[in-house]
Amino acid sequence: MTTVLITGASKGIGKAAARRFLDSGARVINLSRTPSEVDGIENRQIDLAAAGAADDVASLAAELDPGVIHLIHNAATLTNDSVRDTTAAHFRAIIEVNLIGPQLLNQALLPAMKTGSSIIYIGSTLSEKAVPNSYTYVTTKHAMVGMMRATCQDLIKTGIHTACVCPGFTNTEMLRTHVGESDDILQSIAAMSGFGRLIEPEEIAETILFAANNPVINGAVIHANLGQVES
Ligand SMILES: NC(=O)c1ccc[n+]([C@@H]2O[C@H](COP(=O)([O-])OP(=O)(O)OC[C@H]3O[C@@H](n4cnc5c(N)ncnc54)[C@H](OP(=O)(O)O)[C@@H]3O)[C@@H](O)[C@H]2O)c1
Repeated sequence: MTTVLITGASKGIGKAAARRFLDSGARVINLSRTPSEVDGIENRQIDLAAAGAADDVASLAAELDPGVIHLIHNAATLTNDSVRDTTAAHFRAIIEVNLIGPQLLNQALLPAMKTGSSIIYIGSTLSEKAVPNSYTYVTTKHAMVGMMRATCQDLIKTGIHTACVCPGFTNTEMLRTHVGESDDILQSIAAMSGFGRLIEPEEIAETILFAANNPVINGAVIHANLGQVES
């Protein structure tokens, strides 16, 4: 049976992706601080920013049988910060979740990942452009594209593929918190999409499933943002 490991499947896009993989018949394991409440999803509590994350990942790797494994790097932290006020400590804390966590999992799990497996990074529209006051997020999301491209090259001819799915504005807690739960701001953000609405997490979940199951997209940055109005 295919095993799917998703970081941050307790909420939002990760939760929708976990449901979608479960429906496809896979064994699905969520890695996050709080559990997923979806029936059938296995939970392993982990804080990717904590000192014990490497030990938690090593225990997880030890319990997995080798086979087809899809590793979905979805958990991330988004804070309002800028080049003027980002301290080294704050930057390190964000990097732990957004970049080091994925690499801990890559290194620990690759030995068990056989032909047909995949590593799917969840980037953002902000993997390839920037906005003000999202300094650490923009920086780490750009870096994820680099990780994905380097992963592709390092895993050539292993039968394991990779891609970076870059969502646009998606209706989740991360986005709602970022705009201070303001319906007015959410509406103006929705108006910036080519379809005049926010993306539903299930739409990104479908894109992640496609990326995991189709090795032809190896090395690709897949934008999933409904088209954005550029001004
Ligand atoms: N929503 C958008 O508009 C949007 C746009 C572009 C890209 N994205 C990307 O899509 C991905 C999912 O975002 P989302 O909107 O679904 O966010 P979300 O609703 O806030 O969910 C984030 C998930 O990450 C987990 N997480 C956060 N910090 C963690 C930590 N230290 N250790 C372990 N797990 C942690 C959370 O679980 P716990 O709290 O239970 O730990 C939660 O399950 C992210 O990579 C995000 O950057 C989102």
